[in-house]
Amino acid sequence: MTEKIEIRSVNKVFGRGAHAVQALQDANLNIGDNEFITFVGASGCGKSTLLRMIGGLETPTSGQIVVNGRPVDGPGADRAMVFQHYSLYPWLNVMDNIKFSRRLAVNQQNRSSADVEHASGRADALLSLMGLTAAARKYPAQLSGGMQQRVAIARALMSKPRILLMDEPFGALDAQTREVMHDLICHVRRLEKVTIVFVTHDVEEAIYLGDRVVLMAPRPGRIDTLYHVPLPFARNQDMKLAPEFVRLKRQILDRIRDTAGVKTDLEQLQKLSGISA
Ligand SMILES: Nc1ncnc2c1ncn2[C@@H]1O[C@H](COP(=O)(O)OP(=O)(O)OP(=O)(O)O)[C@@H](O)[C@H]1O
Ligand SMILES: [Mg+2]
Repeated sequence: MTEKIEIRSVNKVFGRGAHAVQALQDANLNIGDNEFITFVGASGCGKSTLLRMIGGLETPTSGQIVVNGRPVDGPGADRAMVFQHYSLYPWLNVMDNIKFSRRLAVNQQNRSSADVEHASGRADALLSLMGLTAAARKYPAQLSGGMQQRVAIARALMSKPRILLMDEPFGALDAQTREVMHDLICHVRRLEKVTIVFVTHDVEEAIYLGDRVVLMAPRPGRIDTLYHVPLPFARNQDMKLAPEFVRLKRQILDRIRDTAGVKTDLEQLQKLSGISA
């Protein structure tokens, strides 16, 4: 597999002196072309920071991130981001939200209307892929959370990015809508051949979507363990019940608890009520 993203000895420190926070310590990882890689780990272990550095929104304190053979030195059209909060423009309808960044690019380059035509064709195709054709003229406030997130994904795909960076994109959705989004994003990955880097708190989601799951640990933020997901490429919801799925989920949850340094509820309770464990 050719490497799409190389994370080489990356450190990130926020603040200085006594207030310095080591958000990420010596992270090393290669992510392959068209790979779906998911990140889990306790709050504050540096998942978002790492994703933002791949996106070029933060700079490593030391080390390097290389995308497609070139060191990242800022955001680029080859990488698109989707966040938990849909961040759509409330004054634009669905279609115009999807076309917005493209229209900006066209204006900046002073291109002809042929580019706009081309963009319209892609916007239509993405609307249909996302099952949003009937909602094209609606405004964000008229849509459910799941629909808004589908608009955000369509907008991210508009510039044909090779890499999609997603930070807890389905965190605000209910369980049923999330399942639909999971199968949709797998479909998008196959169709658009994008590499996906996906951060989540939900271990089941991380296994269901990922080729590999990266577990990160806090204080200092670091990569702890890589898990290969032992499931076929094409996933279906029944696989969540497979023994190897359940086993891996337990293993990852246990490791998160160990690395987070959080005692079990029972241990906490015993401590609070002064009973020795
Ligand atoms: N801009 C910033 N300035 C100062 N500290 C920051 C900044 N961004 C992140 N941090 C700190 O870096 C550490 C890692 O933060 P990050 O947001 O990457 O964690 P995370 O794994 O995404 O957590 P969560 O699961 O809660 O989203 C945390 O201690 C956080 O407080
Ligand atoms: Mg985060």
